[in-house]
Amino acid sequence: MSLYALQRLTRPGQLRKVLVERGTEPLHLNFLSLFVALFGSYRAKVDFDLVVRQQYAFPILYAADAAKKYGYKAVTILEFGVAGGAGLLNMCRIAERTRKATGIEFRIYGFDTGTGMPEPIDYRDIPESFQAGDFPMDQDRLREALPDFAELVIGDIAETVPEFCRSLSEDAPIGFVAVDVDYYSSAKRTLDVLSAPPQLYLPIVPVYLDDIGVDGSNPWTGELLAVKEFNDAHEFRKIAPFTLLRSQRIFKNTQWIDRMFAAHIHDHAYRSSSYKGESQRLLPNEYINWHGSKPKGPTKVVGDESTERQAERVRSA
Ligand SMILES: C[S@@+](CC[C@H](N)C(=O)[O-])C[C@H]1O[C@@H](n2cnc3c(N)ncnc32)[C@H](O)[C@@H]1O
Repeated sequence: MSLYALQRLTRPGQLRKVLVERGTEPLHLNFLSLFVALFGSYRAKVDFDLVVRQQYAFPILYAADAAKKYGYKAVTILEFGVAGGAGLLNMCRIAERTRKATGIEFRIYGFDTGTGMPEPIDYRDIPESFQAGDFPMDQDRLREALPDFAELVIGDIAETVPEFCRSLSEDAPIGFVAVDVDYYSSAKRTLDVLSAPPQLYLPIVPVYLDDIGVDGSNPWTGELLAVKEFNDAHEFRKIAPFTLLRSQRIFKNTQWIDRMFAAHIHDHAYRSSSYKGESQRLLPNEYINWHGSKPKGPTKVVGDESTERQAERVRSA
């Protein structure tokens, strides 16, 4: 465990969180975790929630895997709400480790006013939990600490996002969006980053909603309201809880699972009806021989081995 991870444990509430999340999981999995922590691959550590800021480790690896499948070399990942920059620096470190594990390069952008929270508009911003002026940033120190593949985008998100969208490149589509801007009004403008042309995204973009855990959050306030309004306003883009994530995870009690959503880019070329496999796919039937008779001919099972070729075809169309 790194020094940073140990320091985090001393923060108020952190030890309790770890005890609730890990202490309630089966003992054998916690023992296995020790082995993975010492000898496991990066991918195994992500699976076992052993990477600091698991809520970024999973979606960044997911985005890299998807990028590889569709033939991209780089992915853009975004953090909205940077404050002191702990999350952004974690994101950079995770991106570096993911690059080593997958070969996919990352471009990282962190969005913030640089001066802390703006004024809340009304009850929808959950002002009982968040207030103007909270979380200012030391811009110079943070800039110095960032690696060359990451940069800050300073200003109100309502103004910086439209310009940022115009600068995006198809070579490095957006693959992950972390939303940690606390207010409904800021989250609403943040989600505008998912309204650009479809080729600027991976077909499924994990979206992490950090602030849906406060007591005042509900579908009529905060980030959940921003998501609802986004879905109402976009016919072919929908943000929904990440499909079957809890059942796919080894440790099921971590809070980040409930905060992980996905933006479905339904108008993406890879999700259109013209994106068809070149070869017919067959499902194997291991029960066909249940009488003991011999199969009559060879059974050809074609998996999705042609995915990369399809991707190449759609990209060049
Ligand atoms: C809780 S902090 C982010 C913490 C950070 N993600 C971390 O993990 O260390 C929320 C941040 O959102 C930023 N923010 C909120 N509304 C914003 C807006 N409309 N434009 C730009 N930044 C905004 C605030 O300046 C504040 O720094």
